[in-house]
Amino acid sequence: MTTAIFYTSQCNHAKGVAKKISKAFDEIRIFDIAVTGSEYINDFKHIIFGVSTSNHGEMQKDWQKIWSDFKSIDFKGKTVAIFSLGDQVNYPDEFADAMKYVYDDLLKSGANIIGFTSTDSYNFNSSKAVIDDKFVGLVIDEVNQPHLTDKRIQDWADKIKEDLQHESS
Ligand SMILES: Cc1cc2nc3c(=O)[nH]c(=O)nc-3n(C[C@H](O)[C@H](O)[C@H](O)COP(=O)(O)O)c2cc1C
Repeated sequence: MTTAIFYTSQCNHAKGVAKKISKAFDEIRIFDIAVTGSEYINDFKHIIFGVSTSNHGEMQKDWQKIWSDFKSIDFKGKTVAIFSLGDQVNYPDEFADAMKYVYDDLLKSGANIIGFTSTDSYNFNSSKAVIDDKFVGLVIDEVNQPHLTDKRIQDWADKIKEDLQHESS
């Protein structure tokens, strides 16, 4: 089954992460929400959303533009994972917060959410995206920890792929 990545990116960090995640999958489509809006989201059952945090804990602006359409999508029967770009040094009190808004809405809409990760190798004060000591998705900090990015993506993408395969069998 084809997996789809929907992301937005202001300074191309999230775009790069989306591309790297895609390499782990045989069948994958990538959509830039700034170009396609929320169209096509409903066409897929296996979805990865990329939502960076901007402007002190807010979703990046192109996500905000699709937010009301996004909230009207029925995610029942869909399996979804989320990733977020953030900056733990300059925004230690709102680190990767945006992921939580997307997570909350997906949960409300009945999505099966996979891909939680450990907070162990990060250093921040507070993040809305942490539940029970785990991030609700993959967090990448290209500003301060670019040397950890490839391994974080590889480990996460492998796990997501396995969970999605299990889901379809
Ligand atoms: C104006 C501005 C505000 C930001 N606010 C936050 C924030 O509140 N929390 C956070 O974790 N990162 C924040 N960031 C960091 C971005 O998420 C980070 O730079 C990320 O790599 C951007 O990637 P993208 O443009 O490809 O989405 C902010 C960046 C900018 C420029």
